[in-house]
Amino acid sequence: MIEVETRGRVTTLTINRPDKRNAITQAMYGTMADALTAYADDDAVRALIVTGAEAYFTSGNDIGDFALGNTTDDTPPVIRFLDAIASCPKPLVAAVNGPAIGVGVTMLLHCDVVVAADSATFNTPFAQLGLVPEAASSLLLPRAVGTAIANDMLMANRTLTATEALRFGLISRMCAAADLEDEARRVANGLANAAPQAMRHTKALIRQDRDQVKARMQQESVLFSQQLQSAEFAEVVAAKMQKRAPVFK
Ligand code: COA
Repeated sequence: MIEVETRGRVTTLTINRPDKRNAITQAMYGTMADALTAYADDDAVRALIVTGAEAYFTSGNDIGDFALGNTTDDTPPVIRFLDAIASCPKPLVAAVNGPAIGVGVTMLLHCDVVVAADSATFNTPFAQLGLVPEAASSLLLPRAVGTAIANDMLMANRTLTATEALRFGLISRMCAAADLEDEARRVANGLANAAPQAMRHTKALIRQDRDQVKARMQQESVLFSQQLQSAEFAEVVAAKMQKRAPVFK
């Protein structure tokens, strides 16, 4: 479900569960967390690409897993994944090959170069699901695209096209879907062949606010868990099963 392939100095993580639109389960988060940690520790690998198989980047967190979300596990795999991607000291490239939903968008805020196919879209329906933003997106999305567009996405459920995402600064490059793999690899090879120490220092300088990001992630995570237990979330789940709009008191 997560393919991990290293070719030369570049590792590629492919979210590969097309029958579920590449929805990410706890097990898949675990694999991604392990791969990111291995990448951070391996001096021979100098760039990592994250992408999706077939038409979707990812439809986000597996909806079924949300219900199981509050395990007794102190550090569930999703948290390990978010910590690993947010603290990765080496270059991360995202190749967004199609729709990105939820964590599919918020993980991009922790990638250093985001390349997207012109068919990609970007949607963060947390509030509509009775949940709250995660991955420090309540801090990083307004920084990336400005408060107006971040509000539109995080509160009013606006979906951005790739052209809009490029204009607003959520992604830095856009190309035809057929060219995405080559373009992402070109970028990754450029990063991988550059001076590694200079690259680490550069990333550390750009991401100097890691403590603030971590603190926001923790704040979000407490509220996210509370919302998962809430009557609001229960109403969203019931409404989905009954194929009706949720009604809130
Ligand atoms: N978690 C679990 N399963 C998911 C999923 C998710 N996030 N997204 C899609 N799937 C599954 C569907 O349940 C369906 O499974 P089934 O074939 O066993 O019934 C399959 O993927 C195809 O989904 P479907 O809705 O038929 O495809 P679509 O192309 O019409 O729509 C989406 C795709 C992604 C727009 C739609 O499935 C959707 O809105 N998913 C939920 C996205 C979401 O809210 N993610 C959480 C973000 S915080």
